[in-house]
Amino acid sequence: MRHDPMNPITFDLFADAEPEQLPRREQIGEQSCVLRGFALPWMERLLPALASVLEAAPFRQMVTPGGFTMSVALSSCGTLGWTTDRSGYRYTRLDPQTGQPWPAMPEVFLQMAQAAAKEGGFDDFVPDSCLINRYIPGAKMSLHQDKDEKSYGAPIVSVSLGLPAMFLFGGFERSDKSLRIPLFHGDIVVWGGVDRLRYHGVLPVKDGEHPRLGEQRINFTFRTAG
Ligand code: SIN
Ligand code: FE2
Repeated sequence: MRHDPMNPITFDLFADAEPEQLPRREQIGEQSCVLRGFALPWMERLLPALASVLEAAPFRQMVTPGGFTMSVALSSCGTLGWTTDRSGYRYTRLDPQTGQPWPAMPEVFLQMAQAAAKEGGFDDFVPDSCLINRYIPGAKMSLHQDKDEKSYGAPIVSVSLGLPAMFLFGGFERSDKSLRIPLFHGDIVVWGGVDRLRYHGVLPVKDGEHPRLGEQRINFTFRTAG
């Protein structure tokens, strides 16, 4: 829903913050930054590549070891894909749903992730995994650390597409205060080095309709997992 200037009840700073009004690059930690609109030049190649990945490995809702069904639906591409079920979290070489290897990481995914990592100060990023998250309105991701990867030497490169969302970027303890960072279609967040294990999460996505992606937010997180 868009802001109606005549109706103060719908006034919403977040909905009004357009990417053009935000700085192109924001440092959000010693080795973390937001790159506004960084994915936009890749979009025409990115979306068809995403569609073919999802054809081979469709979104599915997964269950946490605690028995909760995640509100976010997941898929993966690359050599390793991330999955969770009642027995735990892990990276696997095969998609447990199809029994096939995860789809290869499209060249455009890799090029964009490497360019963003470089812009964020990480020159030799070689991701072997891209986790794809789909948020429908109401879906969220609780604060967590990305720590299932074999080593923490490589950064996380996180790409936002579709509906906006409020990203929480916290500290090294779950209870640390979080920065609230609105993310829009095409924005990329990079965190690594001393910030690699910062807690992060996403507040429930608000209702809306994105002109390219409809009623959803899609997020890619590129990692070096193996
Ligand atoms: C994640 O932490 O895996 C997802 C972050 C996001 O959706 O922005
Ligand atoms: Fe994460």
